[in-house]
Amino acid sequence: MSAQPEPASDLDRLRAEYASRKDRLAASDLYSPFNTANLFISQQRQRLTLKLLRENGFYPLDPLDILEVGCGTGGILLEYHSFGAHPENTHGVDLLPARLRDAHQHLPGSPILCADGQFLPLPSHFYDLVLQYTVFTSIFDDTIKMKIASEMLRVLKPGGMILWYDFWLNPTNKQTRGIRPAEIRRLFPGCRFDFHKVTLAPPVARRLAPVSWILALLLEKISLLNSHYLAVIRSQPVPDR
Ligand SMILES: C[S@@+](CC[C@H](N)C(=O)[O-])C[C@H]1O[C@@H](n2cnc3c(N)ncnc32)[C@H](O)[C@@H]1O
Repeated sequence: MSAQPEPASDLDRLRAEYASRKDRLAASDLYSPFNTANLFISQQRQRLTLKLLRENGFYPLDPLDILEVGCGTGGILLEYHSFGAHPENTHGVDLLPARLRDAHQHLPGSPILCADGQFLPLPSHFYDLVLQYTVFTSIFDDTIKMKIASEMLRVLKPGGMILWYDFWLNPTNKQTRGIRPAEIRRLFPGCRFDFHKVTLAPPVARRLAPVSWILALLLEKISLLNSHYLAVIRSQPVPDR
């Protein structure tokens, strides 16, 4: 009997997926700000992000220590720089060295590390803000998701905030799995949550935003057409004795 090949781990699948995605998207402007739909999606996400940061007292950003888990090529941290975050205080971690090479170019003054989010080589209770943008939906393995979430909570300062931006549904990409609030609650036990639906579903935004920005704004108000959640996650205050 021939030996069965070892099943690839979820991290191996993810590495292979990102290697092929890089080739597939090399000549595409899917994530470019010159792509009107992408510009619409980013600006709407940024408006809500700024509102939530201000409402939760995370303003101004320059004295705050910020960590993005799964920072990829650094696009989100660059957004936070444009919001006023100090480059030296904005930290990024990603699993994939090829993506981090681009991140180092985009964010020359920021500490960026190659590490698995399950084992962050970072101090406990240090960061005011911990970000995760579209990382968890690319992971299938529940244990990996739980470990990354618990590391995010470990490095968060008391009184700090996790900002979660990820989709709940994406039927077209088989390499991802949408995550709904019930699962987010399980990943961060004992926390308080404030969920906001956002992002006009990209297939709709791609058709509509180049034709009518105003119509895209109106349709984004229909909750069912929002593909993502922007969630504020705060650890519970320790009760007074
Ligand atoms: C869809 S990309 C998002 C990148 C960035 N957050 C953004 O929104 O532009 C997901 C990123 O998560 C990273 N990632 C996935 N699993 C990870 C893990 N276990 N530890 C660290 N990074 C991980 C991937 O390498 C990839 O760069």
